[in-house]
Order: sequence, then C-alpha cells, then structure tokens
Amino acid sequence: MTLAEPARSPGAGGVAGQEIRLTPEVFRRIARAVREYAGISLPESKMALVQARLAKRLRALGMTDFAPYCALIEGRSDEALAERQELITAITTNVTRFFREPHHFDMLRTRVLPPLIEHARKGGRVRLWSAGCSTGEEPYSIALTMLDMASDAGRHDIKILATDLDRAVLATANRGIYPERALEAVPATLRKAHFQPRTEGNETGFAVGPAARALISFRQLNLTLPFPMRGSFDVIFCRNVVIYFDAETELSVWKAFSERLPPGGWLFVGHSERINTLALPMFASDGVTSYRRL
Ligand SMILES: C[S@@+](CC[C@H](N)C(=O)[O-])C[C@H]1O[C@@H](n2cnc3c(N)ncnc32)[C@H](O)[C@@H]1O
Repeated sequence: MTLAEPARSPGAGGVAGQEIRLTPEVFRRIARAVREYAGISLPESKMALVQARLAKRLRALGMTDFAPYCALIEGRSDEALAERQELITAITTNVTRFFREPHHFDMLRTRVLPPLIEHARKGGRVRLWSAGCSTGEEPYSIALTMLDMASDAGRHDIKILATDLDRAVLATANRGIYPERALEAVPATLRKAHFQPRTEGNETGFAVGPAARALISFRQLNLTLPFPMRGSFDVIFCRNVVIYFDAETELSVWKAFSERLPPGGWLFVGHSERINTLALPMFASDGVTSYRRL
C-alpha cells in the first residue's frame, strides 16, 4: 500500500481560509490509532501528508480543530469505528491494476493452477485469497486467469475470497465496472470474453461478466485481527499491503498466513516486499516474490 502525497489544492489544511494545525502531540495520537487499527506505521515524516489529508476530512465533519477528531477516533462507539475506517481511507491510496506484476500471473498459469484445476475436476476443494484486494482488479485478474485455463471452473468447488479493510474500495470492487483505460493490460481475448460495455449517465465503462464474478466473494476484513473465516487456502495473494505495516505487524500477518496454507501452498507478495525466511522458516522462496509453505 502506498501513503499518498499530500493534496496540493489551495486551502488544503484550512477551514474558511484558516489552517488547521496538526501538532506533533496530536500527530502521535493519530499515528497510535492508525497503528492499533490497521497496523500501519506513520513516521513523523508523514505529518504534512496527514495534516493535508485529514484537514479535508475535518472540513467534511464541520470540525475546526484536531482535538475533537482525536477524541472521536479514540472512542469505542460504532461511529468511532466508522471514522477509523474513514481515517485509513483518507491517508492511504488504493493503487492497483489488472494483471499487476504479470510474472505472478505467468506463475499461476504455468505452475500453480494446473494441479489445482485437476484437483477441483476430481471433486476437490480449491480456495484462493486476495488479501488487500482494493478495488478488485487483483481478484478479477486471478478469476480471468482461472477461467482462461478452465472455462468449467464455475462448475467445481473453486472460490476466490477477496478482502480489504476499506469498505469504499470494496464497494467499487463489488460493482465491477471499470473505465476502458483500466483494461489495457487485460489480454484482448479475455476482454472480449469477460467484459461487457455498460453506460451509466454519460460514462461508459466495462462490467466484469458473470463467470468471473461468480468465482469471487468480497468481504471486509482487517488483516491485523484474527481471521474470522475457517478453512485453509491453496493460494494467498497479499501484495503491496504490508509495506507500511510496522515490522512486528508484518511478521504477525505472514505468520497468520502460514497457519492458513497447507504444505506446498503459495503466497504471493508485492514487488518491494520480502518474507524473511530465517525469521519464518516455514516459507521457502520459489520465484520472484512468491513463496511456498513448507
Ligand atoms: C495498494 S493496495 C494493493 C492492492 C492489490 N493487492 C495490488 O497489489 O494491486 C493496498 C490495500 O491494502 C488495504 N489495507 C491496508 N491496511 C489493511 C489492513 N490492516 N487490513 C486489510 N487491508 C488493508 C488498503 O485498504 C488497500 O486497499
């Protein structure tokens, strides 16, 4: 995940021309809430970013000071929980793309999916998880790869779970409609087979077709809390999510994944992420930023 650059719009950080100042003390309170809620580490160098991003949020809430905002996010009510989600949405970006890091999809095609498809065709259960799926391009890319190799996938016990902390991105993912430019990396045959043009208002987008949608369930899930679902996964994609977690949270997430993968199960991580296999000897590197459970 990336923490966005501060917005440069005039007046960002101000209410009616007045700047809302974030003091180091208040910044530390916000950083503590963000760490506790999402495992995201906010160093002091991100103070300007947080100020710019949150000033916008404060304006939306009609607040002129950070003090009531801190009190709100530190609370225990449903409103506090909802605001902590808004806070994460405000300070993170959800950048993603179809077939991002294409070598992972080559790996799916050549090594990962063939035995899983064979297993499913013999009546076996196959589960894949896109953890930190953002607006859905990653799980749809997995589904399209699967359908390209097995058009009968929907008739077997094959399911893709797609989760994210942020309900706003999940709503976009669930809607499954993307602008044409977003489909650039989708091979023409898959685009033709699995997307239909859809016009809403004066915008034309492309809607993901029913076969891909049927393989995926979208759910809200915070990776830093115990996972609520039962059962194991044959493949976990968790790419570009833990990059801003503190080291302890990152390790605990990898460990939690190891408990959900059977021997031989695959874990795919983002291009700038690595698993320390000395600290976690249950994983072995197998490919570029891909690992297998021993
Ligand atoms: C940059 S996107 C990565 C999307 C996709 N995996 C990819 O690589 O293209 C990171 C996503 O991680 C989500 N995220 C951040 N902290 C999280 C947490 N604690 N639990 C679950 N998801 C989280 C963010 O909401 C965001 O949508």
